Amino acid sequence: IMSGFIFDLDGVIVDTAKYHYQAWKQLADKIGIEFSLEQNEQLKGVSRADSLNKILEWGQKTISNETFTALMKEKNEQYLDFIATMDDNEILPDVSKVLNYLKTKKQKIALGSASKNAVQILEKVKLTHYFDAIVDGNQVTNAKPNPEVFLNAAKQINVQPEHCIVFEDSLAGIQAANIANMVSIGIGDASILAEADYVFKDFSEMSLEFIDKLINLKN
Ligand code: G6P
Ligand code: MG
Repeated sequence: IMSGFIFDLDGVIVDTAKYHYQAWKQLADKIGIEFSLEQNEQLKGVSRADSLNKILEWGQKTISNETFTALMKEKNEQYLDFIATMDDNEILPDVSKVLNYLKTKKQKIALGSASKNAVQILEKVKLTHYFDAIVDGNQVTNAKPNPEVFLNAAKQINVQPEHCIVFEDSLAGIQAANIANMVSIGIGDASILAEADYVFKDFSEMSLEFIDKLINLKN
């Protein structure tokens, strides 16, 4: 019996939204655009370029391609300074417990993230060894809700999409999992993630019996 478990990174394994917020906030201040925590919420699951486009749109600002590229670079350098301070204390509740359980049950585990910094972040929190495949923003051209990232991950772990389970904190990610015909599990706010097959506040709310059910999915 074998399922594929695909984890989003930001907001599922670690809470990097606070670092994204600080880095974008600093940039927005510099170019004279207001940027709130509520707006930061809307950037969850959104690629770096799309995020900057949204911020510029909110601030009704147009800039040259050169400046756009420079600002993206600046934001990421700032973000990487925060990432450099991360360690395994930043792993979200019971993520390690679930990963361990899946390993003992010999399940396939993959990462499906929009981030181009995913490999680095997994290294910082010392979770790399759990993953049979890592698909991130460097390998994907179509952003979530396009299912490309998850279909690519399923292919790499050699599990049929119908036998894959996706853990996601963003609506776009849940939609991508649904389009891919995978079981979608929202981690976070049930009102935002209403389209998910199941929603949990975090992994500590998920029983091992439930995970067993996912392992035995349609087999
Ligand atoms: C995740 C985060 C987004 C972030 C995106 C790209 O989806 O939720 O907030 O913009 O990754 O991250 P990157 O590390 O490539 O800038
Ligand atoms: Mg996320």
